[in-house]
Amino acid sequence: MENNKQPKKKNWFLPLMLSLVLSTFLVFIFVFSSSTSYSSHFYKTQVRKKKNNDVIPRFVESKLRISSVSTDPIPRLAYLISGSMGDGQSLKRTLKALYHPRNQYVVHLDLEASAEERLELAEFVRNEPIFGKVGNVRMIVRANLVTYRGPTMVTNTLHAAAVLLKEGGDWDWFINLSASDYPLVTQDGWFPNLALAKVRPDLLHTLSTIPRNLNFIEHTSDIGWKESQRARPVIIDPGLYSLHKSDVFWVPERRGVPTAYKLFTGSAWIMLSRPFIEFCVWGWDNLPRIVLMYYANFLSSPEGYFHTVICNADEFRNTTVNHDLHFISWDNPPKQHPHFLTTDDFERMVASNAPFARKFGRNETVLDKIDTKLLGCNADGYVPGGWLSKQGNTISDYLITNTTKPKPGPGAERLKHLITGLLTAEDFHAKQCS
Ligand SMILES: *[C@@H]1O[C@H](CO)[C@@H](O)[C@H](O)[C@H]1NC(C)=O
Ligand SMILES: *[C@@H]1O[C@H](CO)[C@@H](O)[C@H](O)[C@H]1NC(C)=O
Ligand SMILES: *[C@@H]1O[C@H](CO)[C@@H](O)[C@H](O)[C@H]1NC(C)=O
Ligand SMILES: *[C@@H]1O[C@H](CO)[C@@H](O)[C@H](O)[C@H]1NC(C)=O
Repeated sequence: MENNKQPKKKNWFLPLMLSLVLSTFLVFIFVFSSSTSYSSHFYKTQVRKKKNNDVIPRFVESKLRISSVSTDPIPRLAYLISGSMGDGQSLKRTLKALYHPRNQYVVHLDLEASAEERLELAEFVRNEPIFGKVGNVRMIVRANLVTYRGPTMVTNTLHAAAVLLKEGGDWDWFINLSASDYPLVTQDGWFPNLALAKVRPDLLHTLSTIPRNLNFIEHTSDIGWKESQRARPVIIDPGLYSLHKSDVFWVPERRGVPTAYKLFTGSAWIMLSRPFIEFCVWGWDNLPRIVLMYYANFLSSPEGYFHTVICNADEFRNTTVNHDLHFISWDNPPKQHPHFLTTDDFERMVASNAPFARKFGRNETVLDKIDTKLLGCNADGYVPGGWLSKQGNTISDYLITNTTKPKPGPGAERLKHLITGLLTAEDFHAKQCS
């Protein structure tokens, strides 16, 4: 009996189960037919996930990393020297005092300077025999209109940095100077006159001893009075759209302090690493671009733009050194402009160990003292060094010798003292972006 029942049950059980499965399947198809997009989406993401595990990155950013620094034992510097109406002569003088064949230079006279003055500078750059031989000095011929305190100062700096990235070869640091700045140290410390060498530190040799990714930028997040005077007012810089120079003007509305990033402020004088300049100019992350557009309406944007970008970028925050490498003499309390340096300030300038000072009047006598006592400039205004030996009496007689061997003068200690002091200070990390 039991043997008979068993096969019978099987006979109806299997078709029943099959029809049940089939009908459930049909019901499912019916239910989901209205949402095929969902199922196909589900299907696609599954497929994409599978593919992603192999190679294809989902975001381009994962491919864009900050570039590595050069391994050349001696660094190269990229200078921007800019000026305005009447600055032509002092710009030439600063350029010669800073000149070294390893470095790269961009000079800029803004649109306020007359066409004749800019033409004269262009001819100087073209005709100077050393520049011709080495080819490392270029002038921005399509000059910018630069408004004092306006964002066009930052666009001008970024313009020069972009030119240097495109044409300047492998440099390590970008340094922003004006025609009223002057160096207090030589680029290359070799000097035959040992009596003078006592006070001759040199920049390239000192910088060859520190990491190339450091950014020298004086900054603080304590914006204090600047919140109501700078961050909240909204300004417009006519230099962004006009052909003629006029001052910035204010819009009646005020705006809030940014919450998407934190504002930093500090000195407009900077020495920035190549990786950070690439980050700002190439802008693969949107931060430098967004902050630039924000600063378009900010009074004195050069005192905040790079500072805010660097301190809000995790990749760069730890590379900041809180110093601007300048000797600047402010009145107490500080006024809008620092005071003009004279021979009375000479000792303090030297004692500061800073490689640059500002601000100097045109043809100021203390510049002659710096030339003879600190730089050892020759009559042409160039600073002799390991790269330059004088064979005759005219400039074209100079012979460019080995540029890979800048030697430290005995006085290299001064600058080294400043820089190692900064890097080994106990509060070095505490001062980064705080
Ligand atoms: C760069 O140099 C100019 C000098 O022409 C200066 O006025 C400006 O504030 C500097 N700084 C920046 C961050 O652009
Ligand atoms: C930066 O330094 C801090 C403290 O030294 C550390 O916690 C942090 O991980 C560093 N960030 C990067 C991106 O290296
Ligand atoms: C600078 O001053 C010296 C005299 O101190 C003068 O001979 C020279 O022509 C002046 N140069 C300029 C560019 O004014
Ligand atoms: C310059 O100096 C470097 C380093 O000492 C040396 O390798 C190179 O051969 C020198 N070049 C010339 C042209 O003397």
